[in-house]
Amino acid sequence: MAEIQTGTKMQKENAKAKSELGGIVVLDFGGQYTQLIARRIREQRVFSAIVPCTASVVEIQAYEPAGIVLSGGPSSVYDSEAPKCDAAVLDTGIPVLGICYGMHWIAKTLGGNVVPAGRREYGRAEFRSEADGSRGQLFHGLPVTSKIWNSHGDHVTALPAGFRATGKTENAVAAMENHEKKIHAVQFHPEVNHTEQGTAILRNFLFQVCKAEPKWSGAAFIEEIIESIRKKVGSRRAICALSGGVDSTVAAVIVHRAIGDRLTNIFVNNGLLRKNEFEDTLEMYRERLGLNVIGVDATDRFLGQLAGVSDPEIKRKRIGGEFIAVFSEEATRLSHDAGQEAIGFLVQGTLYPDVIESVSVKGPSATIKTHHNVGGLPENMPFLLIEPLRDLFKDEVRRIGRELGLPEEILVKHPFPGPGLAVRVLGEVTGDHLKLLREADAVVREEIRIAGFYNQTWQAFAVLLPVRSVGVMGDGRTYGLTVAVRVVNSEDAMTADWTRLPGEVLERISTRIVNEVTGITRVVYDITSKPPGTIEWE
Ligand code: XMP
Repeated sequence: MAEIQTGTKMQKENAKAKSELGGIVVLDFGGQYTQLIARRIREQRVFSAIVPCTASVVEIQAYEPAGIVLSGGPSSVYDSEAPKCDAAVLDTGIPVLGICYGMHWIAKTLGGNVVPAGRREYGRAEFRSEADGSRGQLFHGLPVTSKIWNSHGDHVTALPAGFRATGKTENAVAAMENHEKKIHAVQFHPEVNHTEQGTAILRNFLFQVCKAEPKWSGAAFIEEIIESIRKKVGSRRAICALSGGVDSTVAAVIVHRAIGDRLTNIFVNNGLLRKNEFEDTLEMYRERLGLNVIGVDATDRFLGQLAGVSDPEIKRKRIGGEFIAVFSEEATRLSHDAGQEAIGFLVQGTLYPDVIESVSVKGPSATIKTHHNVGGLPENMPFLLIEPLRDLFKDEVRRIGRELGLPEEILVKHPFPGPGLAVRVLGEVTGDHLKLLREADAVVREEIRIAGFYNQTWQAFAVLLPVRSVGVMGDGRTYGLTVAVRVVNSEDAMTADWTRLPGEVLERISTRIVNEVTGITRVVYDITSKPPGTIEWE
C-alpha cells in the first residue's frame, strides 16, 4: 500500500493492499491512452496498476497479477530510443495483452517481423475477427466484423512462431494470439469508445483469458486504508490543508475516520475565493462533516503580495509562495502547541493521475512529478505524507465520497483553480475588482443552476475585464467595466467546448449582472473552445 511516504523522498512502500492483488499490471510504453486502459479495467471491477515499462519482473509480480497489459506508445519499435520491457515478462506464464505498440514489441521480441506501414493508419477501420481457423479468445461471442480505432505507423508482417492471426483490417494483421502461452495482441485500441466491441474484448481478456475476479471496489480499499493509517499514525497527530474541493475533502474525511480529532485541518482564506465561499465551506466542514478545522483569514497578506502585479504567472507564483508561508506558520504553531514531534503527518489529496506519468519510457526516475509534493512545501518540514487517494482515479474518489456520506454539492462541485479569482480578474487584482467579480460570478452560477446546467457543464464562471465601454441606463450615460461569461463542457479539461446556452439564460445573466452589479455595464459570452483557447483567461 502506498499511502504513507517519507517526506520529500517520495519512497513508495512495496507492500500492496490486499485489494490491489490479483488485478492487472499495465506496463506503460508512454502511450496517450495508458490511463484510459487502467480506468477501463477498473470499470470492470478489476484492480489495475500502471507501472513503467522498465519495471522488473519482481516489481510486477509483487502485484500477484492475473494479467499484464503492454500499452501503446508513440515510438516505432525500430527507433533507436524505442522503449522496451524485460523480455522475461513474456515468460512468466501470466497472460499478456499487447495493445498497438505493445503488439509490435511482442512480435519483434519473439522473432516476428514488423515494418513501417506505407501510410499511417489513423482513425476508424473495419475489423474482421476471423482469420486462421477458430475465433480468437479475445473475440469470443462477438460479431465477426466491427469498427475499431487505429493509431499506428508500423504493422506486423510475419507472426512469431507459435502465434496465429485472429483478426485483420483491410491493410494488416490486426490481432494475434499464442493460445498456449496466453499471449494476445491487438493492433488497435480497445480502450477508446470508438472501438465498438472494445469493452467486450477487454472483458474477454480479463475474465476468459486471465480468469480475473471482479472484486475491486474503492470502498473495500478505503477500509484497508483507514486501518493502515490508524496503525501507522498511532497516537500521533496529522494536519491537512483543505481547499474546498473534492479531493482534499475526501482525503480529510478518510483520515478523520482513522484518527478522529487528532487530524487538524487548515482552511486558508486567500481572499480570492468566491462569494461567501470561506464561511459556507468552513461551516460545511465543521457542522456537516464534523471535521476539526482551523479557518485562517489571510486575505490581506495575499492581496499585499498581489499589489501591482498583472502578469498571470507572477500572480500564480506569489499566491503559491504565500500559501506555503501561511500553512507552514500554522503547522509550526500547532506543533508548538501540541508539543514537539506530536504532529508527524501531513495529509494530501493526491490522485493516481498526479502520480503516474506517461514518461516512464525515460526510466523510473522520471515517473513521479516533482511538483505534486505539496506544491513545494519546504524540505525541512518534519512530516511524513499521508496520501489516501494516490491509487485512485477521480471518478473512484467521487464514488467513495458518496459512500462516505459527503454532501452531493461537494461531490459535483465544478473545479476551481488554486489561484482562485486572481486569474479571473484580468490585470492587477484589487479589492474593488474582486468585489465586482464576486457579485457577477454569483449571478452566473445561480442562473446556471436554476436553468439546470450546473451538473451538465464542467465550469461556469465570470471573468472581469479591465475594459470600459459606454452605455446608457435610464437617462444617464454609463462608462463601466466588462464581464465575460465562460461556460464550458469538458471531460478532463484537456479539451473543452463552449456551452451552447439558450438565449434566455444568457439574457437573464446579462440583465441581472448589469442591473445588480454597479460598475459593470457590459456582458459578453466567450465562444472560444480549447484548443485554441484555454478554459481560464489567464
Ligand atoms: P486551462 O485554463 O489551462 O485550465 O484550460 C484547465 C483546468 O485547470 C484549472 N486551472 C488551474 N487549477 N491552479 C489550479 O489548481 C492553476 O493555476 C490553474 N489554472 C487553471 C482550470 O480551472 C481548469 O479546470
